[in-house]
This record gives sequence, structure tokens and C-alpha cells, in this order.
Amino acid sequence: MTMTSIKRAAAILGAGLCTAALAAPAVAIPPEHAGPPGQDGELPPGLAEQDTLRSWAPDDLRIGTAAAGGGHHGNQDYPEPFPNDAEFRDFLAAQFSSLTPENQMKWDALRPDADTFDFAAADEVLAFAADNGQHVRGHALMWHSQNPAWLEEGDFTAEELREILRTHIHTVVDRYAGQVQQWDVANEIFDDNAELRMQDNIWLRELGPQIIADVFHWAHEADPDALLFFNDYNVEGTNEKADAYYDLIQDLLAEGVPVHGFGIQGHLGLMYGFDGRLQENLERFDALGLQTAITEMDVRGYVDDEGRLSPELLEQQADWYSQGLQACLNVTGCTSFTVWGVLDEHSWVPATFEGQGGALLLEGDYERKPAFCAVQQTLVQTNPGGPARWNNHPALAECRTVLG
Ligand code: XIL
Repeated sequence: MTMTSIKRAAAILGAGLCTAALAAPAVAIPPEHAGPPGQDGELPPGLAEQDTLRSWAPDDLRIGTAAAGGGHHGNQDYPEPFPNDAEFRDFLAAQFSSLTPENQMKWDALRPDADTFDFAAADEVLAFAADNGQHVRGHALMWHSQNPAWLEEGDFTAEELREILRTHIHTVVDRYAGQVQQWDVANEIFDDNAELRMQDNIWLRELGPQIIADVFHWAHEADPDALLFFNDYNVEGTNEKADAYYDLIQDLLAEGVPVHGFGIQGHLGLMYGFDGRLQENLERFDALGLQTAITEMDVRGYVDDEGRLSPELLEQQADWYSQGLQACLNVTGCTSFTVWGVLDEHSWVPATFEGQGGALLLEGDYERKPAFCAVQQTLVQTNPGGPARWNNHPALAECRTVLG
């Protein structure tokens, strides 16, 4: 047992819910619920609560998802899930202890024009999170994408742009101070060649790389308690792009810039490999004294005509989710693991990657894919006596069946 797992086990032993569950199966299942849960019977509330991801996560790990709204959801044949879908909201509340507004805090959502802030959609996510005891990852303050046309096409001087950015960051971070625990301050600032996006990121292009330090300072002024993150994709392993962040963050820390975290998005494709250096990568950022997080995990693949993955791919996907989560569990400062949505049908993947999909944990009418159950199993097994609980706990029967 590593120090980390000892620490986590100790934390969990203190948790009432899980300590009670040690004595499983102590709860009598009424006859009307005796069938395989999730098929013909629903679990009674006491057990249903223990059939959730958040109930099994160690105390020092938030398990999160995206509050599905805005962005690609606006062009689909379903109503936007977060604002409209009661079943979706119930699922978010029951299963997750952290939320990330999928699009509601991006510039194009918050800034209809240069003089206006529209906080309505973001406020809704924050209020929901507060009602349900969830943390919030704020996303994102400086990015090259999903910026409004008035900004990208505006004719601003460098001085004006700098003031626009400063005001934006002060206003938004100040409004949500105390409610957003982690901010993605700088999102995707390196390209796939591990070069700073000096062309397609308007802020870097017009204001130069020095702006990176400034945005962290501004966010810190507005909320000294919020943890301020870099966040990017294709940085799972100790690769060139992750190296670029590692070097940049060291420089910034040496200059006293308030950088607190490194977020690995985790948008994976089954047609590529799983980078087994993920834990090693998290560990080196951890060693810099940073928090780390998996912030947007999904695992996409080529799908059939119905948008589904083959049984073999579903199994591989489950294994990758489990490995991603386990890497985070193994690293002390990895305190947040977020999946980028709930239902395959709502995911950004089919709208973005031709012929691909099946990227999330559930599908259709909240049917659990092997991936959901692999995540649940991985969380259960971090608890003392985990394997025995996994095999016997009555709340976990559905996932035992799904994983066979
Ligand atoms: C995606 C959203 O899921 C979509 O709804 C939207 O249309 C486009 O953006 N990296 C990020 C996320 O940081 O904000 C992106 O989210 C996915 C890639």
C-alpha cells in the first residue's frame, strides 16, 4: 500500500456512509425490489444513494461532470439538457460532487457585447451546485475558442484589449468568489507542436506571452482562495506538450505568479493509445506543489450506424476510464476527476469528430455502459475492504451485472 492509499483509506474510514457500508449487506431488500436493480426494480432510497459515484469517492477527490448546455447543444434535436431536463439534473445531483459549466462561462456565453455581461446561464449552474453540495470548476477565462465576434473581429488597440481582458477576469472571478473552487485561467494555450498559440489566441497574438502571468495575477486579485489552473488536451503523458507546460509553470512559479494547478482534459480516442505515463506526468506537477485534475475525460471511438461502439471497444473504453481515474487516485494532489458529460447522445464528440462517438459513461435512458461501472468499481475499491464490498454490497448489484 502506498502512502497515498493509506491516506485515502484513513480519510474514508472516517466517513460515516462508508463505515456503515462495511457491514454490508446489512440492509434488507424489500421483496418488490429484490429483482436485478435497474431492470425491473428500483433500489430503495438508502441503497440508491450508495449506488452513486460520489458516495464512493474518497473525501479528497471530487468526481465531476459537465453541466450540459450551450455550445453544440444549441444545434441538436433535444432541448438543452441542463436548463430543461429534470431527469438529467437529478442524475447530476445524485452522482457527482463537482460540476463544470460546459459552455456557460465561456466568453461567447458571458459577453453578448463589449459592454454587457450575461450571467443568467452560469448563475443557474452555480445555484444548482450550491443546492447539491457540489464544487464548481470555472471554465474558462482565456482561450482561443468560443470568443464572441465583437471581440475577435473588433478593431481594438492592445491597450483596449488588455483592459477588456482585465475587466472580464475581475468581474467574473469576483462574482463567483467563494463559489468556484478551481478556475481554468488559461485554456489550451499550446498547440499540438507544443508552441504557444501566438496566432489563433487573440490575447497572445495582440498582447504577447507576458499576458499569461497577468491573467493569473488578475484572477488571484479577484479571488485569492480560488485555485488557478492551466488546462489542455493531449497532455496526458510526459510528452512534448506537457513538457512545455512543465517548463512554463516552473518559470511562472519562480516569478511568483499565482499558478496552483494543472488540468489534463483527457479527451481520448480509442484509435490512439492510452498513454501509460499519465500518473508519472501528474506526479511531476504534484512535485511542483501544484494541484492536478482530470478535467474533461471522454473516450471516443468509431461507432456503428446507431452511434454505438462494439463490445470490444466498450471494454477497452471501460479500462481506459478506470486507468485514468486510478492514476488520479494514486497522486495526492489530484483532487478532481471530471467526465465531459453523461449520455453519449449529448456528447460534443459526434458533433465534432466525424464518425466518432460513444464517448461517455451512459447512453439512451441512462443505461450504464461498462465504463460507468468500471469507474464505480475503481472508486469502491479505494475503500477499505473494497474488493469484498464490490462483490457483496447490495447497492452495487447493477454494475456487477453490467461488468459480468
Ligand atoms: C466543447 C463543448 O463540449 C461543446 O459543447 C462546444 O460546442 C465546444 O466545446 N476543450 C475544452 C472544452 O476546453 O471547453 C470543449 O468543450 C472541449 C475541448
